[in-house]
Amino acid sequence: MLSHVPSLRYGCLWITLLFISGASCYPPGPIQARLATRGSRVGALQFRQGIVKEKYDNQEKRRISNIMGEIEAILDDKHGLRSSNDSNDVEFDGVLEGDLVINERQAKWMLQAFNTRQKRKLIDNEELRWNISTPIPYLFNPEDFNENEKGIIRWAINHWEQETCIRFKDMGPVVYYTDYILFYKGKGCSSEVGRNGQTQISLNVICISKQIVAHEIGHSLGFWHEQARQDRDDYLDVLWENIQPGKTYNFLTHQTITNDVPYDMSSLMHYLGTDFSKTYPDMLTLKSRDGFLQQVMGGAEKLSFYDAKTANIEYCKDSCRNTKLRRPCEHDSYQDPNDCYSCKCPEGFGGTYCNTAAFSVGGADFAADDRHHMQWR
Ligand SMILES: *[C@@H]1O[C@H](CO)[C@@H](O)[C@H](O)[C@H]1NC(C)=O
Ligand SMILES: *[C@@H]1O[C@H](CO)[C@@H](O)[C@H](O)[C@H]1NC(C)=O
Repeated sequence: MLSHVPSLRYGCLWITLLFISGASCYPPGPIQARLATRGSRVGALQFRQGIVKEKYDNQEKRRISNIMGEIEAILDDKHGLRSSNDSNDVEFDGVLEGDLVINERQAKWMLQAFNTRQKRKLIDNEELRWNISTPIPYLFNPEDFNENEKGIIRWAINHWEQETCIRFKDMGPVVYYTDYILFYKGKGCSSEVGRNGQTQISLNVICISKQIVAHEIGHSLGFWHEQARQDRDDYLDVLWENIQPGKTYNFLTHQTITNDVPYDMSSLMHYLGTDFSKTYPDMLTLKSRDGFLQQVMGGAEKLSFYDAKTANIEYCKDSCRNTKLRRPCEHDSYQDPNDCYSCKCPEGFGGTYCNTAAFSVGGADFAADDRHHMQWR
């Protein structure tokens, strides 16, 4: 049973990594923007040190900010929010949707997709994806995390490994690869979306929780936020008038590949219903059509069944190519890439093919026979 996790899950997002100097922050106020620079030195061996690289120069940041301004202007206009005069004063603080560090290409195709409303496939998708024929290398920025913090980060990595075929490898102090994940202690909780050379995940001390780290790793693997799916309007209403002025660009939908996986309020990649609201936390910005699910939204503590399924479809298609199951997987389950002889079941189902109800803890197995179950009641 999911319960509402009010603050910290996305509380971290308020103090996001700011890399546009002087930008004002949402909501506590201005925080000076700064990416840690620790001096880079590439030795004769040409390996890549685990140091945080400044990724985008000021001009690129400004261009990204301008694109967000364009999106904001169109959205505000569409929803009758602000006079057209001021709607370009967008307060883009360097992160989209609270925790996404995007590059100019990604910003451009967001705008393009928005303007044209074409249902084309994501052209960048291939290049954003990791090649997982070998484990994804990662490292901790030297001296940023203590052992306890590393333990929590490793828990999140391990969680992804248990749910998918994706594997990670701690490179120690040095990586020999072009593409790798760097965990560092930045100003807030953020990640780039998908593979991008030194793919940076910033984890401030307030972000060191299992679900936040697992969430950010999801972004680094290419996940956008669940509520940015194009079909989200079938399940929730965006309450535009409740969004902080200058922040509506965070509520754009993106062209994402969903592989027929259904919309999932319990996704670890879903916002809280109150994010970016004018008066957090009592004003909703996302209102679930199904009232019960309002409590579920944004409260996930681990990957949902469909989060894992999405990743497994994208990354793990070939994991079981040599093992054929005798029966089809039932109840939306699928061949488990970590155990090719059985299906990976949604909660509440069990058995090799997910055709039976799961064991309950401390209860009786009523799976095979409903009558039996009724007798015990
Ligand atoms: C927009 O700006 C123009 C000139 O700066 C001004 O005359 C006009 O009244 C403004 N409109 C609104 C709706 O604020
Ligand atoms: C992934 O890496 C493997 C091993 O390095 C390589 O053989 C394969 O071609 C790569 N796949 C893609 C799609 O680049």
